[in-house]
Amino acid sequence: MPAADDLIRDLLALEGAFATEVASLASEGDIRAAQARFLGKKGRVSDLMKSLGSLPGPERPRVGEVANRVKQLIETETQKRLGALVDLARRRDLERVVDVTLPGREQPLGRLHILTQVRRELVDIFRELGFEVADGPQVETDFYNFEALAMPADHPARDAQDTFYVASAAGTPGVLLRTHTSSVQIRTMETRKPPIKIVAPGVVYRRDDDATHSPMFSQLELLVVEEGARMSDLKGVILHFVHRFFGPKLVIRFRASYFPFVEPGAEVDMQCCFCGGSGCRLCKQTGWIELGGSGMVDPRVFTACGIDPEKYTGYAFGFGIERMAMLRHGINDIKHYYEGDMRFLRQF
Ligand code: FA5
Repeated sequence: MPAADDLIRDLLALEGAFATEVASLASEGDIRAAQARFLGKKGRVSDLMKSLGSLPGPERPRVGEVANRVKQLIETETQKRLGALVDLARRRDLERVVDVTLPGREQPLGRLHILTQVRRELVDIFRELGFEVADGPQVETDFYNFEALAMPADHPARDAQDTFYVASAAGTPGVLLRTHTSSVQIRTMETRKPPIKIVAPGVVYRRDDDATHSPMFSQLELLVVEEGARMSDLKGVILHFVHRFFGPKLVIRFRASYFPFVEPGAEVDMQCCFCGGSGCRLCKQTGWIELGGSGMVDPRVFTACGIDPEKYTGYAFGFGIERMAMLRHGINDIKHYYEGDMRFLRQF
């Protein structure tokens, strides 16, 4: 049976052992682990205290008092050591040399490609007018790209859109890269009932290549089918969009033109924004620049899509997105968009 004095001696020895051990510890984790080894439920102090019960009653308070003091001292020693660690870290931080005269480091920020920005802006203008976004495949069949748009094989209008044909594995003829987003008109009318009011942006392909024509470019198509849709509605929508995109002073004109799938059809020109209409190299001295094609949906197209042409009328408009951005930002070569030259792209 341990005597009270033995216990007191052992407790004081533990206190000394803790002070020595903790002084050499360098991390908060290690210090807390040492504290647990001494004061934890199964720690060394608790171990000694198990013998307290076997001491004669009058001896216990004396030993208990020492035990409490030792516990308190270990606790205090722990806090001191942790405080010293914090002080050390703070001092090191302050001692670090900071040269406040050094120039800041630029954090390069990514941004959207100019064509993406313009496409989103255009789509938003139409969405505000209640148009829904629609989509269709880029690899298309002859039917959706030409035939259903009243351009059967050998129709001369096909020549205006020199086409990339795709050799299909199954040998199916008539698979091609769509030449315009008007194919989305057919896909939409085939699957949906009027009223229809869609905006369809998308990539299209043609065998074209010069400063204002690229083999791959983007168009944006509008289609409205409802009871009582009129040419004046089409003109109003186009005028609204041109004023929103280019500014309220811009002048446009409708020039009668032929697209097999609309009747009447019109090309939309805007007054040249480079010369203000007086004639320059970019508008080929005409004072006008073509934006796109438009017109009232031909009743034959409605019939082919199962829509009653006696009940419904509709209008459509299709234009090039690259062209829009070129006109607004004064870009003189369509290839700039695709070359990935950061000096060009960073301007927008
Ligand atoms: C069409 O593509 C018709 N689908 C437009 C249409 C829609 C008419 C609805 C009637 C009703 P067009 O071939 O003119 O039409 O092309 C429209 C626009 O696409 C042109 O005005 C031009 O802005 C742009 N575009 C045509 N070819 C190219 C090309 N190779 N590179 C860049 N833009 C082009």
